[in-house]
Amino acid sequence: MATSVDKMSTDTQAESIYFLNAGAAQAEQDRLNRQHRLFDDMMQNDLLPPHVASALSALKTPPKILEVATGTAVWLTEVAKTLPLDAEFVGLDYDTTKFPSSLPPNITLRQADMFKPFSGDLLGKFDVVNVRLIIFALKEGQGTDLLLTSVEPPSQAWFRFQDINWRFAKKVGRDMNLPLSMVAYIKEAGCVDCDDKAYPGNSQLYTRGREDWISRTNVHVKALAEQSLRGITSLGGVEGMTTQKEVDELLACFDKEFEDRIVHYLFVRAWGRKPEAD
Ligand SMILES: C[S@@+](CC[C@H](N)C(=O)[O-])C[C@H]1O[C@@H](n2cnc3c(N)ncnc32)[C@H](O)[C@@H]1O
Repeated sequence: MATSVDKMSTDTQAESIYFLNAGAAQAEQDRLNRQHRLFDDMMQNDLLPPHVASALSALKTPPKILEVATGTAVWLTEVAKTLPLDAEFVGLDYDTTKFPSSLPPNITLRQADMFKPFSGDLLGKFDVVNVRLIIFALKEGQGTDLLLTSVEPPSQAWFRFQDINWRFAKKVGRDMNLPLSMVAYIKEAGCVDCDDKAYPGNSQLYTRGREDWISRTNVHVKALAEQSLRGITSLGGVEGMTTQKEVDELLACFDKEFEDRIVHYLFVRAWGRKPEAD
C-alpha cells in the first residue's frame, strides 16, 4: 500500500514545475519553519486575517480548517494553538517527506495533488481553506514575487539569481502575475468579499528587532537560493545554470554577499468568501 502512495507521489511530482523539494527533506523542513517565523513577525502574528479569526471564534460548531500545500504544517500547527481543542485541521501536500513525525491529535496530514480533484470527504466541510506560498508551482493560467524584491546594497548574486529564476519561470511556463493577481483569481473562482493586504517585508527594520531581522533574512535568502538552484538544475536548469559547479559558484557568491544586506520585499495575503449555497 505504501508503495502505491509513494509511486503516486513520485508520478505527480515528476510532472511538476515546483523546484523547492530537491535534496534532503530536513534542510527544506528547517527552511520552511524558519520562513514561517519571519513571515509571522512581518504579519504582526495575524495567522489569519483578523475578520476571519473573529468569524471563526463566533462559530457555534468546532472550527474546521484545511490547508492546501501545507509543507511542514507549521501554519496549521500554530493556528491550532489559538483554537479550541475540538477544532479540526487537515493539511494536504503532494510531497509527504516534509510532514512532521508528531502532531497534535486534531491535525491530520494527507497526500494530495492540488491540481487533481480532492477526495469527496473533504468537499464542503471546511470553514477556512488556507493556501500559502505556492507561486513556484503554478503555471500560466493557474494563477513572481522574487521580481518585487530589491536588495541594499545591490547584490550581483541576487541579480544573477533573479535572472536565472525568471528564465526558468519562462521556460516552464510559470504564472508571472502572482502575487498581485490573487484577488482577481479568487473572484474568478466565485468568491465574494474578496480583498488583499500587502505586508512590507522591511517594516521590521524600523523596530528594535532590526539587527535580528537583518541577520535572519540573510540566512533565509541563502537557504532559498540554495534550495532553488539545486531544484532548478535538477529540473534541467537554464543556460549558465545546469551543473553542480555552476550552482556551487553562485552559492559561494551568496555566502560572500549575504551577511548583513537589507532585503525589501512584499508579502501579499488575499482572501474571499464562498457564497452560501441557495
Ligand atoms: C513553499 S512551500 C510552502 C509550504 C506551506 N504552505 C508554508 O507556507 O510553509 C510549497 C509547498 O507546496 C507543495 N506543492 C507544490 N506543488 C504541489 C501540488 N501540485 N500539490 C500539492 N502540493 C504541492 C510543496 O511540496 C511544498 O510543500
